[in-house]
Amino acid sequence: VTVGRTWASPPATAPGGLVAALREVVGAAHVLVDPELTATYETDWTRRFTGRAHCVVRPASTPEVAAVLRACAAHAATVVTQGGNTGLVGGGVPAGGEVLLSTTRIADLGDVDRVAAQVTVGAGVPLVALQTHLRAYGLDVGVDLPARDSATVGGLVATNAGGERVLRYGSMRAQVVGMEAVLADGSVLSRLAGLPKDNTGYDLVGLLAGSEGTLGVITRVRLRLVPLLAARSVALLALDGIAAALAALAALKERLPTLDAAELFLAEGLDLVRSHTGLPAPVPGAHPAYLLVECADRSDPSERLLAALGELSGAMPGISDAVVAEDQASRHKLWRYREAHTESISAVGVPVKLDVGVPLAAFAAVASSVGPAVEGAAPGARTIVFGHLNEGNLHVNVLGAQGREDAVTDAVLRLVTAHGGSISAEHGVGRAKVAWLPLSRSEPELAAMRAIKRSLDPTGLLNPGVLIS
Ligand code: FAD
Ligand code: MLT
Ligand code: ZN
Repeated sequence: VTVGRTWASPPATAPGGLVAALREVVGAAHVLVDPELTATYETDWTRRFTGRAHCVVRPASTPEVAAVLRACAAHAATVVTQGGNTGLVGGGVPAGGEVLLSTTRIADLGDVDRVAAQVTVGAGVPLVALQTHLRAYGLDVGVDLPARDSATVGGLVATNAGGERVLRYGSMRAQVVGMEAVLADGSVLSRLAGLPKDNTGYDLVGLLAGSEGTLGVITRVRLRLVPLLAARSVALLALDGIAAALAALAALKERLPTLDAAELFLAEGLDLVRSHTGLPAPVPGAHPAYLLVECADRSDPSERLLAALGELSGAMPGISDAVVAEDQASRHKLWRYREAHTESISAVGVPVKLDVGVPLAAFAAVASSVGPAVEGAAPGARTIVFGHLNEGNLHVNVLGAQGREDAVTDAVLRLVTAHGGSISAEHGVGRAKVAWLPLSRSEPELAAMRAIKRSLDPTGLLNPGVLIS
């Protein structure tokens, strides 16, 4: 296991009186200063980002969050907000010295409004708990991702998470119809009516979505819901390359209105997953690329999926094999090849994780150039790519690049932006990519973003060093 980046560690004592003031607000049991208790909050999921917090505070409601922020401001302490700590860009862990505000106790699950198909939930609710809550109503949320057990609704909104169903429902921001959030001065912005039509000025809810904790602490979210589509069918296609995966995706989209996922992985990622999980090969032989697709409907979509695959196999030489899973256990097994990528990579070492968005017209060219670009920046490093194909979202994971992290990041992000891509498709900028934001955003855009930050958080209380330098 390689060692991640560590910032200077401040003493674990808070500025005079702040811990006492926070204990007044949330109760002594919910202000943690013991390093044994704070440790899990201080290092991110990847183990690359770590820093000591002055203390961890766990408010349970919007008024408690407001009082926490006011106390921190009064003591000139800065604050990092954390949900499930599954973020992959270092935005939810301290750089050193901040108060860490954990939202996990703000976990109320509101009643479902069946007519509007909406629900209001606390920011600290894990995605899986929300999914379970909604199932009883025959409803679902339009975003799903492998970190569902821990990632919170507030974190998903703050990062505008993507995941595996963007093809059908869009990213997290598109699911948000209302929000309650506490601004840096302790004032509460509350828009929870969930009005589908509401043209009364700036879209503050949309602005806070994707703001990565830099503009406010999201405490409650109202979400639009989608029908629970329990009839599902999954196919895994073995292909001779990425171009064939793109062609197959285009043909399947034309034929399958029930398509809701299209995930890409390659031979090297599959090898890593198989050696980590012990899974057998999904289809006989080794193939350069694999495309996992899922259809979901109210009635079994298998026949239409099989028929579409039959048409493709006659017409497209790049498809070498395909396997279809109809029952839940077999579907889960096929998904495991894709979803186990992240843990399998992290089991080998601390990766440099990049998450780029590439125009589909340039996708195959960028995907095949990423390896050589990494090799130029960190000779001998190992590159594993996979991702959400429909959105051109490539996850570039580099192992064995210790000491060359910035060079690797620079090489990959310059390659991507030279092809019209984005330095982050879904994980966000966090601390990891602040220095590269100008590759994706013009100077007027950066100036506007800085002006927004200054006006909502003039003293720089919230998530310093995240997103905006
Ligand atoms: P945290 O990690 O705690 O925080 C993330 C950021 O949001 C930080 O900047 C933090 O300050 C801010 N934040 C958190 N809560 C709040 C709040 N209430 N108010 C204001 N700011 C807040 N991401 C994807 O987009 N798609 C994927 O497919 C995907 N798959 C993943 C798979 C694995 C195995 C893992 C480990 C991660 C994956 N992620 C994915 C990344 C991660 O799950 C998402 O970024 C998620 O949205 C983070 O939620 P969280 O609650 O863990 O947030
Ligand atoms: C995924 O799609 O699995 C994630 O975004 C996590 C990752 O990039 O490792
Ligand atoms: Zn992803």
